[in-house]
Formats: sequence, structure tokens, C-alpha cells
Amino acid sequence: MTDMLTPVLSADWGTDRAWTLQAYRQTGGYSALETAFAMAPDDVIAMVKDSGLRGRGGAGFPTGMKWSFIPQDPESEAGRKPKYLVVNADESEPGTCKDIPLMMATPHTLIEGVIIAAHAIRAKTAFIYVRGEVLHVVRRLRAAAREAAEAGYLGTNILGSGVDLELIIHAGAGAYICGEETALLDSLEGRRGQPRLRPPFPAVEGLYASPTVVNNVESIASVPAIIRNGIEWFGSMGTEKSKGFTLYSLSGHVKRPGQYEAPLGITLRELLDLGGGLRPGGELKFWTPGGSSTPILTAEHLDIPLDYEGVGGAGSMLGTKALQIFDQSTSVVRCVLRWTEFYKHESCGKCTPCREGTYWLVQVLDRLNQGRGHAGDIELLLDLCENILGRSFCALGDGATSPITSAIQYFRAEFEAGMHTPSSELFPPAASTLFPQEVSV
Ligand SMILES: Cc1cc2nc3c(=O)[nH]c(=O)nc-3n(C[C@H](O)[C@H](O)[C@H](O)COP(=O)(O)O)c2cc1C
Ligand code: SF4
Repeated sequence: MTDMLTPVLSADWGTDRAWTLQAYRQTGGYSALETAFAMAPDDVIAMVKDSGLRGRGGAGFPTGMKWSFIPQDPESEAGRKPKYLVVNADESEPGTCKDIPLMMATPHTLIEGVIIAAHAIRAKTAFIYVRGEVLHVVRRLRAAAREAAEAGYLGTNILGSGVDLELIIHAGAGAYICGEETALLDSLEGRRGQPRLRPPFPAVEGLYASPTVVNNVESIASVPAIIRNGIEWFGSMGTEKSKGFTLYSLSGHVKRPGQYEAPLGITLRELLDLGGGLRPGGELKFWTPGGSSTPILTAEHLDIPLDYEGVGGAGSMLGTKALQIFDQSTSVVRCVLRWTEFYKHESCGKCTPCREGTYWLVQVLDRLNQGRGHAGDIELLLDLCENILGRSFCALGDGATSPITSAIQYFRAEFEAGMHTPSSELFPPAASTLFPQEVSV
């Protein structure tokens, strides 16, 4: 087996009652906070910048640079406004399952990261916006925040540092679009969650029209380890432009699905090796590198480095590092239909290309899946995608086209077969399902 795991965030997930403050402290928890409080806020920002940490929410934007965009000049109007830190814990991208396990297992890692980040950007209020369905995570975070407050890590004059911070754990209502940062901010303000026009960017006018940093759970939770161990340690893992460790979510037709924490730049071949390989008799047919919004790849891409540059070079995106693995028993058409139904359902309806386009994509894919496709349907799908990609208001619309165009690129013959043969005949669902009692065509 390849020995390439680098457990940092997940190191204590198996520890007895790892979610308690006592367990967290026993492994050095909250020591990074004391180090960070001894540093000037700008020095914390510089350290995170120099570490090369890139946002783990999907786009890979440098975290320290994002923090440095928050206006701090008291002479300017924006600089005088209150600053907010918002943690994006909406985790809804199909296949992505890393933030929720992290918050369940070791919520204090995130809370320590929140306090350090708030100190750096000089925010006195921070929010963790949690996906609505995961009530157990909301409860765990609230209990951890209570423990932290009782221990003096939240509230006024934290550890005698002069830093004040109120942390609010907010439960969303379960909408994928509320993971898009500006829709999240609208939702947090009590409005219907729909993306905002940019500029102004959240760094200048975010929550309540004030400077706001929005960061993914994993991005913020990575900060304490960087402060504790230093930027050289962090840079010793990963690749030149994609530094550090990260959580990969491995799912689908694999023997041991789960979260694998490894350096950026590991390959799928190595991760599959760690996960015990494909299920018995399985051969890799296609996979997503970063959730269903990222173009699918095939067995020919087993050895590309799973970092931002490597996956980008192969025509896809690293996204959330959600590796969904499909073997030869899977119908590409049926799988893409299921994803597209998700996007149609989750489209917020604000802009026409996405609202109408995802509806029509489902109509066409559905008839191809049933073997009742029309001549020209592949061109129609591509034409619809062309009218959505780059013409939608936010990245949900763009993401909805990724699985379709990439699937046609690699598996056109399966779409052509949809003109005369149902996918259920070519690929019986019973053969590909992981949950035999839930077979559907
Ligand atoms: C439809 C949609 C859903 C998203 N969902 C999430 C999410 O659940 N969690 C997340 O961190 N980022 C999500 N994002 C990305 C956020 O808009 C934002 O880029 C991210 O929270 C920034 O954090 P980072 O810089 O730490 O990566 C989503 C984006 C889109 C377009
Ligand atoms: S692309 Fe879709 S989700 Fe995004 S604003 Fe338009 S309708 Fe809403």
C-alpha cells in the first residue's frame, strides 16, 4: 500500500471523544491561538499568505490574500465599518464529504481557526453557516462554541489579549445555492438565498454591506496547524503552487470509501491504492476530480497530480476534491441525468440561461436515458450547454454543463445509443448500484 497519508486535520478523528475541549487541548489545541495573539494581525495575514494556503472551497483562491483585501484604513469609509468572518459550511456539492466529518469529529479545530482568522482581519463577529440538513453538526458546533466560551476562548478580552469575538452558528435551510458565497450572505441576512452582482465584492461590501471574508471550513481549520508548525512544514507537503495537505473525499465503486488526507499532488492511482482499489471485478470507467460540477475524467487520467494545476491541465478542475469513482457497470447517460436533475432542482431561478436551460437539459437527457432520443439530441445538448456556460449569473449554471460536455467528449457512443436503447438495458441499474434496495432507472 502507498504510504502517502498526511493526517493533520483528521489526525485525531479516531480519538475517544475527540470533539471535546479536553481532548482537543490534550493534543496541543488552542496553543496556536496564543501564538497568533502574540503576533500583530498583519503578521498573521502575512504568514498565511506566505504559507501558500489556497481556499479549499473549490476555486483555490489564496487565503491570506483574501484576508489582505479587507480594508483596514480608519480614514476610509469601508475601513471604519465592522468586519465579518463567515465560514462556509454549506457543503452540498455532490460527492463532497469532508467539512461535515471534520466539524463532527473535531469542531474545536475550526473554532480555533475562526478566532485566529477573526484576529487577523479584525472581526468582532464571526458566523459559521451550516448546511440545514445536518442538525447533528449544528448541535455539535454549538456545544463546542459554548465550551470554548466558558474556557475564555470566545467573548470579550479573550485570554487577556484585548481581542473580542462573538461566534454565531447559523443553520441554513438546505439549498445548494446558499454555498455560493454571495447567496450565502443574502441568506444570512434573512433574505432568499440568491447570488449578488459583483462588484462590489464581499471584501468591500459583504454581510450588512460591510467588509467580509468568506472561507471554507477546511481552509479556516488548516490555519492553526500552519501557525503551530510553520510555513516550511506546510510547504514541505504538496506541490510548488498547490501547497500543503488536504482532505480528499473518495466515494463510489471503491472498496474503502471515505476521507483521505494527503498532500496536494497525489494521484488518483495512489489514492485508489490507499482505498483498497475498486470493488471486486470493477474497472475504472470515469470519475470526478472535484464533485459533479467538475468535468469528468477517465482511466487515462489516473496519474495526473491532484492539484490545481495538474487537474486544470487535464481539462477539469480540482474543485472540492470529491473523487466519485464509477466502474464499467455505470451508465454515463443515467449518471449525468441524475446530476442534471440535481442542478435543475437547485437552480435558484434568478437568471434565464440556468433556470430554463437546466429544465431543457433534463428533458433531453431523460429521453436519451429511456432510449427514446431524437436525431440531433447530442447537438441540442451541446447547444444548450453553450448557451448556459459563461452566460449564467453564477457558477452553478457553468457547473451544470461540465458533466454533460465532458461525458459527450469521452462517451459519445453511449449518448448515440440513447436514440434507440434504454440505458437500463445496456447498463442494468442493479449492477451499478451500491444500495440494492434503491435501484431506479
Ligand atoms: C453553487 C455553488 C455552491 C458552493 N458551495 C460551497 C460550499 O458548500 N462550501 C464552500 O466552502 N464553498 C462553496 N462554494 C464556493 C464559494 O462561493 C466560495 O468560493 C468559497 O466559500 C470560498 O472559500 P475558500 O476561499 O476558503 O475556498 C460554492 C460555489 C457555488 C457556485
Ligand atoms: S446560474 Fe442558476 S443558480 Fe446561479 S443565479 Fe442563475 S439561476 Fe441562480
